[in-house]
Amino acid sequence: MKRILSGIQPSGQLHIGNYFGMMKTMIANMEQSDLYVFIVDLHALTSVHDRKKLASGTLEAAADFLALGLDPDKCTFWVQSDVPEVCELAWVLSNVTSMGLLERCHSYKDKTAKGIAASHGLFAYPVLMAADILLYQADMVPVGKDQKQHLEVARDIAVSFNNTFGETFTLPEAMIGESTAIVPGLDGQKMSKSYGNTIPIFLEDKELRKRVMAVQTDSTPVEEPKDPDKCNLYALLKLFAPPEKLAEVRNLYLNGGAAYGYLKQDLFELIRDYYAEARAKRKELLANQGWLRQVLKQGAEKARAKAAVTLDLARERAGLKY
Ligand code: ADP
Ligand code: TRP
Repeated sequence: MKRILSGIQPSGQLHIGNYFGMMKTMIANMEQSDLYVFIVDLHALTSVHDRKKLASGTLEAAADFLALGLDPDKCTFWVQSDVPEVCELAWVLSNVTSMGLLERCHSYKDKTAKGIAASHGLFAYPVLMAADILLYQADMVPVGKDQKQHLEVARDIAVSFNNTFGETFTLPEAMIGESTAIVPGLDGQKMSKSYGNTIPIFLEDKELRKRVMAVQTDSTPVEEPKDPDKCNLYALLKLFAPPEKLAEVRNLYLNGGAAYGYLKQDLFELIRDYYAEARAKRKELLANQGWLRQVLKQGAEKARAKAAVTLDLARERAGLKY
């Protein structure tokens, strides 16, 4: 059975890009894989310096996953900082990680360009991510395309450790869905919390409608044909519309008659209905935080037991057992 692992930062509201880029794949693989899902609060600390926001974001991220269908009895589900072993492994790994490898990472450059403080934590972020993955000997890691380079770094670090100290870590592979590799945001760029162009999944109807109405489109008149594959709105409709509906819409684009306002209303209703059940469940879960915390504590115990085995091996290989 393949071991599939992925994490999400509790650094903002869950959006459609997160769902199609990663969460949906994770939840779909619950039955046929050994699944590891976690909330990476230590990574979020690189950009969130507000105690209340980080703590409540962590519980909300847990509720998001469970509301969307993750069953904690069918996977290992925990909060990253509840397994401190990951920090020890990150330190060990950082000694077989070259500066050049980290200097080449786009994510650090992008984030500092956007005003996130250029801290050592942000620079070393990929090493902690490698530790997340290698600590559980994961085979596959579902992520959006923006994380592809971090997965390559994790593999390079594993190879470097294995070459230096002997075969220890499984080499992980990124699992990137072709059609959902990059979900576009309101402005057509990659949908991302840090670009302020997201459609959060769990907005109330009125807010959700407002966001969907803000999807940017061109000014081609309704009756003129348009290329659906160049349209941001169509890319989003593709994620939610059933095949017959999508064929109908595609036809309107190609032959004229696609009115953006109506299509946005359709998109709003599709998104609202798609997540209706999850939205209700999430409210229930957040009203029962004691239970949520208990689920996470139990998950951390499970994860810790697995982490201890790999860490022990890595310590032994590196000469940290005497
Ligand atoms: P954000 O860019 O909004 O901060 P995160 O970095 O928290 O998102 O990403 C969490 C997961 O969701 C990652 O696996 C990431 O690759 C995926 N993801 C984020 N945005 C998108 C997107 N627009 N399209 C596809 N996947 C995405
Ligand atoms: N860097 C990932 C992101 O921003 C989150 C993450 C941290 C992660 N550790 C991970 C993803 C391990 C997969 C596996 O989305």
